[in-house]
Amino acid sequence: MKQTMRDAGHLIRPLVIFAAGTVLFVAVRQVIIPKDFGHYGHFRPGAMDDNRKHPIRFAGQEVCAGCHDEVVAKRKTGKHAGVACEACHGPQAKHANAGDPKAAKPALPDTAVLCARCHEANVAKPKGFPQVVTKTHSGGSPCNACHQAHAPKI
Ligand code: HEC
Ligand code: HEC
Ligand code: HEC
Ligand code: HEC
Repeated sequence: MKQTMRDAGHLIRPLVIFAAGTVLFVAVRQVIIPKDFGHYGHFRPGAMDDNRKHPIRFAGQEVCAGCHDEVVAKRKTGKHAGVACEACHGPQAKHANAGDPKAAKPALPDTAVLCARCHEANVAKPKGFPQVVTKTHSGGSPCNACHQAHAPKI
């Protein structure tokens, strides 16, 4: 009898530890899972409200066009027609929605960084996409010394 009990201990101890682990897991889970999780599905509905609270940083180019129609007209004449204003100028909702946009004037992009981001030669890019090895192509001059950003063909 004594012998049997001693052997049973090898099973009981891990079982007790496993049970304690399960209780701990359930307890911790209860505390850390947000209250609204799983209300509609495997997600937290409150996450949508959290996202809505982020300030809107992009204005969208229809808004830019309202004040910068001359840039829109110029851009239409070249291959950058399909490149959105804020792809180059960065998020500009603050500027576009300012009471006085002139006071919140954006800094102009540094073309050495900006143009290379899309046009630096790279074998991974589609063959037909215009690309250059900027170092040798521009000889160190800024890209806008020769190209106009809004209609880049020379
Ligand atoms: C409500 C009118 C308005 C809207 C909308 C607007 N802008 Fe402007 N923007 C201005 C004015 C005014 C200036 C200052 C022009 C000046 O100083 O000659 C300016 C200046 C700029 C400049 C700097 C020009 C410079 O010479 O330094 C950039 C770049 C620019 N805007 C980009 C944008 C982009 C991109 C958008 C859309 C996200 C946008 N703007 C939306 C009115 C507007
Ligand atoms: C391909 C990148 C690119 C796109 C797309 C682009 N810009 Fe620009 N923009 C520039 C750069 C670079 C400059 C600085 C120009 C320079 O110094 O030659 C500039 C200059 C400007 C200026 C200053 C005045 C001028 O004409 O130089 C304004 C205003 C402006 N951009 C507004 C816009 C608006 C509005 C749009 C969308 C309709 C737009 N840009 C699209 C890169 C871009
Ligand atoms: C956000 C990406 C992007 C940026 C930034 C950008 N470009 Fe482009 N560029 C394009 C796209 C897209 C095309 C059109 C490609 C096509 O139609 O095959 C293009 C076309 C061109 C062309 C070919 C024009 C032609 O008519 O054949 C030149 C030159 C050029 N870009 C120069 C520049 C310069 C200079 C700058 C910096 C002021 C610049 N690009 C910034 C995306 C970009
Ligand atoms: C000294 C003048 C000069 C400078 C500076 C310059 N380019 Fe060019 N670039 C040219 C000429 C000329 C062409 C050929 C004519 C054209 O396609 O517009 C050209 C063509 C291009 C093309 C089209 C290539 C193709 O295969 O169709 C791209 C992209 C380009 N340049 C990007 C840039 C970038 C990015 C910079 C800045 C790092 C830059 N360029 C600076 C003169 C210049």
